[in-house]
Amino acid sequence: MRFLSFLSTAAVAVVTVTARASDGETVKSADLHIISPQQQKEAFNTTELPRAPLPWGKVNFIHTTDTHGWLDGHGNVPSWGGDWGDFVSFVKNMQDKAFQKKVDLLLIDSGDFHDGGGLSDSTNPKGSVSDSIFQNIDYDLVTVGNHGVRTVEEALNIHRNMSRVFGDRFLTSNVDVRVDGKPEPIGNRYRAFQTKNGLRIVAFGVTINDTLRDLKNTEVYSADYMFTQTWFAKAMNETADLYVIVGHAPVYSPCHNPKTDSPLVCLRDKIRNSTKTPIQIFGGHAHHRNFTCYDEKSSGIESGKYGDTVGWLALDEVPSTTWTGTTAPLAEPKPKKTCPGKQTDSQNPYLLDRRYLDWNRLTFAYHTVGLEDNSPSVPATFDTPLGRKVTDDISKARHLLNLTYFLGCAKEDYCFNCKKVGQDGNIYEVLKDALSDTVVKKERASIPRVVIANDGTIRDNIYQGPFTLGDAYAIVPFPNTFMYIAKMPCGYFKRMAAHEHVKPDISCPDGGNDFIIDEPPESHMELRSLPDDDHKRDILSSPEHSPGYTTHDGLGDDGDDTLHSPIDEDERYMKIFWGNASFPNPKHYPPYFDVVFTSYLETKILDALKATGAPYKEENVAPYLPSNYTSREVLPDYTARHWSQDRKHCPIRNPGDRY
Ligand SMILES: *[C@@H]1O[C@H](CO)[C@@H](O)[C@H](O)[C@H]1NC(C)=O
Ligand SMILES: *[C@@H]1O[C@H](CO)[C@@H](O)[C@H](O)[C@H]1NC(C)=O
Ligand SMILES: *[C@@H]1O[C@H](CO)[C@@H](O)[C@H](O)[C@H]1NC(C)=O
Ligand SMILES: *[C@@H]1O[C@H](CO)[C@@H](O)[C@H](O)[C@H]1NC(C)=O
Ligand SMILES: *[C@@H]1O[C@H](CO)[C@@H](O)[C@H](O)[C@H]1NC(C)=O
Ligand SMILES: *[C@@H]1O[C@H](CO)[C@@H](O)[C@H](O)[C@H]1NC(C)=O
Ligand SMILES: *[C@@H]1O[C@H](CO)[C@@H](O)[C@H](O)[C@H]1NC(C)=O
Ligand SMILES: *[C@@H]1O[C@H](CO)[C@@H](O)[C@H](O)[C@H]1NC(C)=O
Ligand SMILES: *[C@@H]1O[C@H](CO)[C@@H](O)[C@H](O)[C@H]1NC(C)=O
Ligand SMILES: [Zn+2]
Repeated sequence: MRFLSFLSTAAVAVVTVTARASDGETVKSADLHIISPQQQKEAFNTTELPRAPLPWGKVNFIHTTDTHGWLDGHGNVPSWGGDWGDFVSFVKNMQDKAFQKKVDLLLIDSGDFHDGGGLSDSTNPKGSVSDSIFQNIDYDLVTVGNHGVRTVEEALNIHRNMSRVFGDRFLTSNVDVRVDGKPEPIGNRYRAFQTKNGLRIVAFGVTINDTLRDLKNTEVYSADYMFTQTWFAKAMNETADLYVIVGHAPVYSPCHNPKTDSPLVCLRDKIRNSTKTPIQIFGGHAHHRNFTCYDEKSSGIESGKYGDTVGWLALDEVPSTTWTGTTAPLAEPKPKKTCPGKQTDSQNPYLLDRRYLDWNRLTFAYHTVGLEDNSPSVPATFDTPLGRKVTDDISKARHLLNLTYFLGCAKEDYCFNCKKVGQDGNIYEVLKDALSDTVVKKERASIPRVVIANDGTIRDNIYQGPFTLGDAYAIVPFPNTFMYIAKMPCGYFKRMAAHEHVKPDISCPDGGNDFIIDEPPESHMELRSLPDDDHKRDILSSPEHSPGYTTHDGLGDDGDDTLHSPIDEDERYMKIFWGNASFPNPKHYPPYFDVVFTSYLETKILDALKATGAPYKEENVAPYLPSNYTSREVLPDYTARHWSQDRKHCPIRNPGDRY
């Protein structure tokens, strides 16, 4: 196990403030028998219990993915209030359980550790603090995400640091980084190993090809290319009871062409074409809970995002001649589901089950040490010394990095998928106001402007309650600078917006070069209606559940460990959106205005302008603000000035309230 030394090295090197390091939250050894520290001090406790104990098989997996640095928990969301230290205690307790049952328990992560939480992103290099915290879980298999190869610095950091810590357990079957010009695998190509109980596993780790990756210094190979490599022949020559593919890719993207399609399912197909051995996939990238059956002995799970979900997968039994674990029948509850397909042995079908756990201490304790009389309080026996230490480290790091700094009170939830465009409570409406208010060049303040950002700028909801700098970074993690084109005629802007499929309810004044647009393209603003089946109605009629995941996956409706009421998931917002400022009449577009946008959008906007016949080129684009003022500064700046500073009267949303 790794005890951390970052507080005396890495963090202090990048953060100058040390005086606020401790709030006296350090654990004294005498306190070890009481529940402190537990999760982060500001995080709220859930009172909602899991619906039933977990099914255990002979081979079991704990799966995380897309943590994006979110190791400090979701302070204002009781369902996800636990932090990485609580998870460390959970894993240790589960390992003890597996040991007692004489069954296997493997730990898997499908990548994307950065680009999200302030804990990972406010250090240089990214992850210099959060990676050391992450590494307290002794993963059996880990792979890299697309957020890991976007810059060469990050890819090299993972190659040199994360990948070395996990050694042969860090798998990158199709990803390289250039070191002095020469491509090197970031991790290991494959891993053939035996579990504690002797099961023979051959494992691979693959990642989707992200067009935003550093194309010069990183390489992502197609499945087809992998199949031609000698290491692949060697891997397929190993004896396996079970193939495991860890993938930073959605489990449901099909493979039609191994040259171009997602390598995850292509690799499964390739293995299946040569053997009937079971294959288990652990996917990611989709930021959802999901489960897909490919055939009776191969399936894939996806386990949420941002430290909101712990995925659980139980295989009843994997045929093996080397198995040394229990041969006794398993205790209840055990996996009883099957994936559709041709069961080769109808007497002994291949059984499995899955569960998606909410990331909180109560859930973790319920499934390990148990709760006294099912009361919603966590027994002191739950926390392990390492778990407490990690929670304490996180808390110190958050203070050092100023992430606990209170910016203001969010008086309601602002979400990107539960409120319509233009409605109060839609997070893009908040960002529009913030962009108008904060992105202003002094010399041009009186010139009318629009400030454009895109839907992907926002990565999460703002939850009612205290809003901190860490929350702000997590919601807008990407530091894009602001660029502009001066005094664009309204007509050009209107055509550009139409080209980007934004409903052009832009009315330009006479003389504003108002082009006629025929057949404006539809925007993506309509609410998708929920499937109106009985299950949903049941949950809807149980207002006592807080809103959360209500998953329908390839095995049915019973995957969620804690019951929630559904969140009405709207489509994402329009691809681009904007706020306006200094319009002489705020209700009307003036004939000309400055068009300001994030650097991320520069190419897109220029392309759209060119495509619609506007005479703009790269030379017409100039920096609007100094490069040290980025999209990350917008929310902290805006909320600190406009939101209530009264932390004492800043409640979180009542869990029983619906959106
Ligand atoms: C959460 O519960 C613990 C005791 O289990 C308590 O000490 C802590 O104050 C609670 N947190 C909040 C925000 O209520
Ligand atoms: C490895 O991590 C250390 C500590 O965060 C950092 O100083 C170093 O730059 C990293 N290595 C690379 C190649 O980024
Ligand atoms: C990955 O994407 C890049 C950029 O779009 C492309 O040039 C390359 O051919 C792609 N590679 C694979 C294996 O699909
Ligand atoms: C496959 O394994 C056999 C027996 O262990 C060995 O003789 C052969 O060279 C291996 N082939 C490859 C491609 O590794
Ligand atoms: C697997 O076999 C099927 C049927 O022969 C073929 O169509 C498919 O391309 C193969 N898939 C891979 C990844 O080799
Ligand atoms: C879950 O997977 C199915 C296919 O198995 C897919 O159609 C669906 O879009 C996925 N759902 C989510 C929320 O990703
Ligand atoms: C913490 O962040 C806030 C908001 O950006 C800033 O005003 C404050 O000075 C910072 N404090 C420290 C100690 O860096
Ligand atoms: C400008 O922004 C304000 C505030 O968001 C909004 O009410 C108004 O409709 C906008 N004006 C135009 C012409 O879109
Ligand atoms: C940006 O840099 C300028 C000077 O280079 C400095 O005055 C200003 O405070 C900086 N702004 C931020 C947001 O860091
Ligand atoms: Zn992700």
